[in-house]
Parts: sequence; C-alpha cells; structure tokens
Amino acid sequence: MEKLLANELVRSIGVSNFLPEHLETLLASAEVTPAVNQIELHPTFQQRELASLCREKGIAVEAYSPLGQGADLTADAVQAVAAAHGATPAQVVLAWHLSQGTIVIPKTANADRMAENFAAAALDLTASEVEQISGLDSGQRIGTDPAIAAHTQL
Ligand SMILES: NC(=O)c1ccc[n+]([C@@H]2O[C@H](COP(=O)([O-])OP(=O)(O)OC[C@H]3O[C@@H](n4cnc5c(N)ncnc54)[C@H](OP(=O)(O)O)[C@@H]3O)[C@@H](O)[C@H]2O)c1
Repeated sequence: MEKLLANELVRSIGVSNFLPEHLETLLASAEVTPAVNQIELHPTFQQRELASLCREKGIAVEAYSPLGQGADLTADAVQAVAAAHGATPAQVVLAWHLSQGTIVIPKTANADRMAENFAAAALDLTASEVEQISGLDSGQRIGTDPAIAAHTQL
C-alpha cells in the first residue's frame, strides 16, 4: 500500500478493524501512518480507548455500522433528542458522531434516507445532548471481533 501511495496510484491509505495491538505492530515498521482506521462504532459500542489512540497517532476514526445497523435508533435518549430538534433519530446519531470528529459511512438503499442522513451535517447538538447519547455505550459489538477474526490475527 505504501508503494501504491509513493507511485501516486492512490491518494491515501488506511486500515480497518485494527485494534491497538494491530496498530502497534503496523506502526513499528510502517513508513506512512494510515490515514484512517475504519472500525465498528455507534452509541451502544463506542470503543473509546481505540478511538482515542487513533486520534493521538493522527489516524482519523471512521465509524462503520454508525447507526448500529438501525438498532441504536430506538434508544430513548436518541428519540428524545430527535424530538427536541424536530430531527430524525438517524440524524441525531450521525450528528453525535460528527460532534466528535468521527467520519461516518451510514448505509441505506433508500434515496430519501440518504438525503436525510446527509442533512445530519447541519444538526448541532448541545454538550448535554452529546453526553446523553455517549451514555448509551453497552460494549456490545454487532460485528465480528477483530481480535478473533481469522483474517486479523497477528
Ligand atoms: N470494515 C468493515 O469490516 C465493515 C463491517 C460492516 C460494515 N461496513 C460498512 O459500513 C457501512 C454501514 O454499516 P452497516 O450497513 O453495517 O450499518 P448502518 O449504516 O449503521 O445501518 C444500516 C441500516 O440502517 C438503515 N438506515 C440507514 N439510514 C437510515 C435512516 N435515516 N433511518 C432509518 N434507518 C436507516 C438501513 O436501512 P435501509 O437501507 O432500508 O435504509 C440499514 O438497515 C456498510 O455500507 C459497509 O460497507 C464495514
């Protein structure tokens, strides 16, 4: 990947599902710090330590399954903040991510929801609202744990 970058065949290079131990191994020999680490991150699964480590190293955090695959949209705190702003729960969750400088890649097969999701960039949450949503972390992952996935074992 570094060669592709050096040869200007790609503009930037990054990683996905890298846990701290994976980053440590990579950074010990890498010449280029990855631009981004794409990880599972949503209100009920926030991976705070990993996200902080990435930011300390200058690696942007990109949230996959940013809506918790839709499951986080029904949380009471999300619904209450949405009602207060006349916004949708998805917009509130996306605005919460953006408030922390996290890149989001929500998936939708519906054009109206895609427009709705883009509009979340204009929604500003108060510090208290951000805190309420941050309080939803349960540590419950939806996807595969990179620590035990065969393709990411050291
Ligand atoms: N790097 C990795 O290992 C990895 C792993 C998993 C996923 N990803 C990537 O992350 C992207 C997103 O993750 P994801 O699909 O797992 O989860 P997600 O984006 O959190 O949730 C997708 C679900 O939310 C629904 N949705 C989207 N916008 C909505 C809205 N405004 N209101 C209500 N429901 C809404 C979608 O339904 P509709 O389509 O019906 O709107 C779909 O069921 C994927 O495209 C994938 O490429 C990467």
